[in-house]
Amino acid sequence: MNPQLWLAPLHGITSRTFRNTLCRHFGGIDCFMSPFLPVQPAGRFRPKVWQDIAPEHNTALPLIPQLMGNQPDQFVDTLTVLHEQFGYERFNVNIGCPSSPVVRHTRGCGLMPHPEAVERIVAEVTSKTPFRLSLKMRLGLHSAEEGREVLRRLNDYPLDFLVIHPRLGDDLYEGTPHWDLFEEFCGMTRHKVVYSGDVFSKAEYQTLSERFPRVETWMLGRGMLLNPFLSEEIKNQEVGDKKSRFLAFYQDLAESLLPLRGENGTLANLKELWHYYASFAQVPPDDLQKMLRINNLQEFLTMSSNLVSLPFGNNGEN
Ligand SMILES: Cc1cc2nc3c(=O)[nH]c(=O)nc-3n(C[C@H](O)[C@H](O)[C@H](O)COP(=O)(O)O)c2cc1C
Repeated sequence: MNPQLWLAPLHGITSRTFRNTLCRHFGGIDCFMSPFLPVQPAGRFRPKVWQDIAPEHNTALPLIPQLMGNQPDQFVDTLTVLHEQFGYERFNVNIGCPSSPVVRHTRGCGLMPHPEAVERIVAEVTSKTPFRLSLKMRLGLHSAEEGREVLRRLNDYPLDFLVIHPRLGDDLYEGTPHWDLFEEFCGMTRHKVVYSGDVFSKAEYQTLSERFPRVETWMLGRGMLLNPFLSEEIKNQEVGDKKSRFLAFYQDLAESLLPLRGENGTLANLKELWHYYASFAQVPPDDLQKMLRINNLQEFLTMSSNLVSLPFGNNGEN
């Protein structure tokens, strides 16, 4: 079976610039989901917030915008405006983000202990708009019973799909995902399930796809940062010379970020990415630390590109 591979939303990383550059250099990804954007009250829309999902900047692949909030009427108003302005018909609601400021404001994963609030958002959007609505969730914030109750309540609504990242909010990104609970959740819901979490290699994808044959769509997040060829490898595409392809992507990314983010913003973005690229590009920890202390973009680009030129990945073999 040819899987559907979607790039997971990674706030602060998978901006439109990153998505478009990734798409110019690597294959295998079928769809993007934007990092979360806040829903806004009617009359207080700030178009600047929507730049990341403006259709003129998102022509490479289908994009599903993701929204975060907790007021049902704000979801209806925001989705309606996004449809009118940009033509989107599919939207995703984030009830999985575990970051403490988000949870404290009963947004993201902070909604999971409040299944009635999740249901109100879904009921309101599905009854008042014609849009295809999906949710991206964890197993719960503190316990899987929260997730079970969310699933029970959502079973009778017309949802597009559910993305499940099989960790609790309390787990953050640590430990192994709870695959037994994922299995149980898949059996409980009548909705299509998209899997998200810790697919870091083709072998891990194969193990999980054998264990969960009902799952057709797989999200790749940090796995695509740790190895940008992962989607091609999973789809058995010819990978070729990894080093030169990675360097071309990296240079293109830096050049594309610069006009939008300026030197400091570009440097900050690239430094964050290097926490992932360092192991793939086989950069020793001392060199990485030295690199992360550099405060000049040009100097940083020179050092990081030179380090990539050292023995790298699997030396270009598939
Ligand atoms: C830095 C970072 C930012 C993230 N931002 C979002 C986000 O905006 N929306 C969302 O639904 N999930 C977000 N996630 C969760 C990922 O989409 C994904 O579900 C999670 O990282 C597990 O998948 P992975 O192991 O393939 O990365 C984020 C994760 C990380 C590490």
